[in-house]
Amino acid sequence: MRVLSGVQSSGKLHLGNYYGAIRQFVTYQDKADEALYFIADLHSLTTVRDGPLVRQHSLDVALDFLALGLDPNKAILFRQSDVPEIPSLAWVLATVTPMGLLERGHSYKDKVARGVPPDCGLFIYPVLMAADILLYGSDAVPVGRDQKQHLEFARDIATKFNAAFVAGYDPQDPLGKASGKPGIFKLPEPIILDETAVVPGLDGQKMSKSYGNAIDLFGPDDVVTKRIMSIKTDSTPIEGAKPPDSTLLHLLELLCDADEAAAHKQSWQQGGVGYGTYKKRLVARFFEVFGEARRRRIELAREPREVVRILRAGASRARELARPLWERVVEVTGVGAHYADVRRGPEFLVR
Ligand code: ADP
Ligand code: TRP
Repeated sequence: MRVLSGVQSSGKLHLGNYYGAIRQFVTYQDKADEALYFIADLHSLTTVRDGPLVRQHSLDVALDFLALGLDPNKAILFRQSDVPEIPSLAWVLATVTPMGLLERGHSYKDKVARGVPPDCGLFIYPVLMAADILLYGSDAVPVGRDQKQHLEFARDIATKFNAAFVAGYDPQDPLGKASGKPGIFKLPEPIILDETAVVPGLDGQKMSKSYGNAIDLFGPDDVVTKRIMSIKTDSTPIEGAKPPDSTLLHLLELLCDADEAAAHKQSWQQGGVGYGTYKKRLVARFFEVFGEARRRRIELAREPREVVRILRAGASRARELARPLWERVVEVTGVGAHYADVRRGPEFLVR
């Protein structure tokens, strides 16, 4: 099984990124035959227009990955823009993607509603994401629930491409078991864990880098503490039972082990413990859970050249894995491709 996922280099990683995505990345680097994890810097251009900042975020995400336990000996870690086949494939896929499909995009509509300019890049964001997934023949993609529709789009786009370029392809039989005509691109499955599908932020909305409601994994101690102490709660008195749908309880349940979480839940329902006490417990728990990763990140940040080495090796391995599929795309579409050893330059126009 080949597993792949990406995180945009658009800001600092937070608890939602960890529990929704990166914790699964760590699990699958052991379980999958190949695990590919990348920094989606091309995607981040839809919201960040500042070269030095994108570079800084890209390095930061790489450091965060490594500090949180992604191991370059087990997973292929790379930066999206270091694989030049990706934007080429995105263009090819855009030529078979119906406008109507992209017009249904929740993420596009949400971002525009929040004031992100409705540029073409934002609109075709899911096509670039489909290229990321399909180029390596990925079987499964661990993500948070907000990415579910993007995975459906990737499947739809793969189907459109297969139908356009494989004669006799039957969308009902993508592996070609009956027809003998399998698609060029596999249809990827999402991996979304129910209990962490949407981690709430300080205000109760989905925690996000861009909503100002996040608890950063690697923020300074005093900032993290302040953020946790500022989680929105209501005016239920200490002795009262607390309302069940609460960010504070949700985060306690995520960060505590099962017994402690059950004890918190019980006292929450009974009353007798104030919000401040729970918040202090969450602060302590945060530093217990992430203390080691936070220390490791400080060490890693002293050796940025080592990170560069890891990303370079990762990109080169990712391109090797991508090559058989990219060669097929080149073949069936009739466009060119340039590798160090084989150049499908204009000489290939005449065979
Ligand atoms: P953000 O929304 O903060 O910009 P990204 O879009 O870069 O985060 O998401 C990176 C990964 O983290 C994706 O798989 C996404 O689904 C997951 N993720 C982000 N926020 C949350 C959240 N609040 N709960 C669960 N998963 C999340
Ligand atoms: N869109 C994803 C997000 O915002 C990031 C991403 C880009 C991605 N390409 C991907 C995730 C491919 C999984 C697979 O979180």
